[in-house]
Amino acid sequence: MRKNIVAGNWKMNNSLDQTKALIEDLTTELKEVQLANTRVIIAPSFVNLQQAIQNTENNVIEVVAQNMHYAKSGAYTGEVSAEMLTSIGVKTVILGHSERRAYFNETDESLTEKVNTAIANNFDVIFCFGEQLKDRESENHFNIVEVQLKNVLFELPADAFKNIILAYEPVWAIGTGKTASADQAQEMHLFIRNTLSKKYDAKLAESVSILYGGSVKPNNAEEIFSKPDVDGGLIGGASLKAKDFSAIVKAI
Ligand code: PGA
Repeated sequence: MRKNIVAGNWKMNNSLDQTKALIEDLTTELKEVQLANTRVIIAPSFVNLQQAIQNTENNVIEVVAQNMHYAKSGAYTGEVSAEMLTSIGVKTVILGHSERRAYFNETDESLTEKVNTAIANNFDVIFCFGEQLKDRESENHFNIVEVQLKNVLFELPADAFKNIILAYEPVWAIGTGKTASADQAQEMHLFIRNTLSKKYDAKLAESVSILYGGSVKPNNAEEIFSKPDVDGGLIGGASLKAKDFSAIVKAI
């Protein structure tokens, strides 16, 4: 059975002290919550990963990275490798976030390399993709999503998909307060699952968790998560407040 996942992408937020405080508050909020078949994930910045790992040792929260370089090591100033992340206990990485694509020139080519490196190093990958507003307005969104998946993931062997989590994030809904409706999310998630099924097979398609991301908040999470092909969310803004993020976790 595929897992439900609620993942908080902290982006470039939270100092060391704020990281510790938010984890403490989240731990308190989530203490009594029954989380059968559910992964709760946070992605702090690189500099605070090690501290976050220490502070989540005795609870359900998993700590993951927001990005990673594809090379093993070398002259890549400012970058972080799979080996470095593994050495501090990080086992999952977010790749392809729309902000990485838009502001740091990540392309299908560089993301293919990153995904391949991550899989070769036994990471789970939360792979983000989604259309821009102009794509939806021109009704090209299914096509865009299919191409994004195909270009980066569809050379992978079927076996690699046990380590792939998909995060459909329509760019027009990220940080804008505009969320896709639950029906729009379901429609796209079903399309994604059907696309996986055609390329691989139905069993594989049923086994992959597909998260929705883009202005998920405590007041809309339950409806979005109630859809059969929505297996959780990737949460930005609302993951920075313990009460909001835990309310979203409780909605799964
Ligand atoms: P948001 O961000 O929840 O603030 O819209 C989502 C994301 O960027 O993953």
